[in-house]
Amino acid sequence: MGSLAEYQVQGRLEVAGKERRLPGPTEVAVFRIVQEALSNVKQHAGPCRATLSMMYATDRLSIAICDDGVGFDQAKEGRGSGRLGLVGMYERASLLGGILKVTSAPGKGTRVHLELPI
Ligand SMILES: Nc1ncnc2c1ncn2[C@@H]1O[C@H](COP(=O)(O)OP(=O)(O)OP(=O)(O)O)[C@@H](O)[C@H]1O
Ligand SMILES: [Mg+2]
Repeated sequence: MGSLAEYQVQGRLEVAGKERRLPGPTEVAVFRIVQEALSNVKQHAGPCRATLSMMYATDRLSIAICDDGVGFDQAKEGRGSGRLGLVGMYERASLLGGILKVTSAPGKGTRVHLELPI
């Protein structure tokens, strides 16, 4: 797997609040969600800037993966399209008692937002 730079994606990480460890299974699930979101940026967004932001509150972790790439039509890429990435992200988020929201439109970039009780 090549680096994001090879795909002309400029990455940035922002962390706010007090960073801390989570229970093992939660960390794995969060890692998988972020990994899939970033791999979607690499595979689908085209040359763009991407930001991963993590905000730790007392009882909540909020994570956003945003890119200003090509975006996509959410009506066409909804459930039932046979793709597993987004579906898996929704599933993992709900198993954690969290909420995942994806916002995208052609030409408008993509934003994946995960809100998690911790
Ligand atoms: N960051 C993004 N920028 C542009 N398009 C995206 C982005 N993320 C997802 N998409 C669109 O949504 C579709 C569904 O994504 P999803 O991750 O579910 O499937 P996939 O990446 O095509 O396949 P896989 O099952 O290997 O993940 C993609 O095929 C792509 O068209
Ligand atoms: Mg994918």
